[in-house]
Amino acid sequence: MIQDFRKGIQKMKHIYQKGKDLSKPTLLLLHGTGGNELDLMPLAGMIDEDASVLSVRGNVLENGMPRFFKRLAEGVFDEEDLIFRTKELNQFLNEAAEQYEFDRDNMIAIGYSNGANIAASLLLHYENSLKGAILHHPMVPRRNMALPDLTGKSVFIAAGTNDPICSPQESEELYSLLEQANATVELHWENRGHQLTADEVAAAAKWYQNK
Ligand code: MLT
Repeated sequence: MIQDFRKGIQKMKHIYQKGKDLSKPTLLLLHGTGGNELDLMPLAGMIDEDASVLSVRGNVLENGMPRFFKRLAEGVFDEEDLIFRTKELNQFLNEAAEQYEFDRDNMIAIGYSNGANIAASLLLHYENSLKGAILHHPMVPRRNMALPDLTGKSVFIAAGTNDPICSPQESEELYSLLEQANATVELHWENRGHQLTADEVAAAAKWYQNK
């Protein structure tokens, strides 16, 4: 029998920072391609300086660059790996909640690019995995699947009108998909490309305070 080594769930490198106010959601930080668990730490403080933070490094390496799942080409995802890595991350979150004693049902993801894609994938595959998500420049992680019921979940999408990686059509498609799944979704546009801008982080912070 040929053993598929991809089937082994791996541990995930991460940083956990306990917040001042444990009634706040735990912020789950998910970096973009080539990033790591340190990248988005400053963002957490801009969203909620009292919240606990769990920042995770993707387990996949593409030419030495960490990612959360494999891709076959730019914008073409390895669906089998996406499904497996989404399960792996969800399981890691369950274990981390036990280890660090935070409320597993009160977690908000903040993801950029590849990290936003795995956050969207968590929402689509595990309907109780996240209470909400801030998705900076996400794509549609998977199509043609039965939609979950995301009633009560809130999602903020920040997209760029000139984003060459996540086209405006794809941002709109993800918006509609999440709406069809009953999530409350806000789509914020920047007249920029794929970069994470200070303005969109400020808009995300406002969304977080009002949601
Ligand atoms: C991906 O998941 O591949 C992203 O959307 C693009 C990137 O991370 O470069």
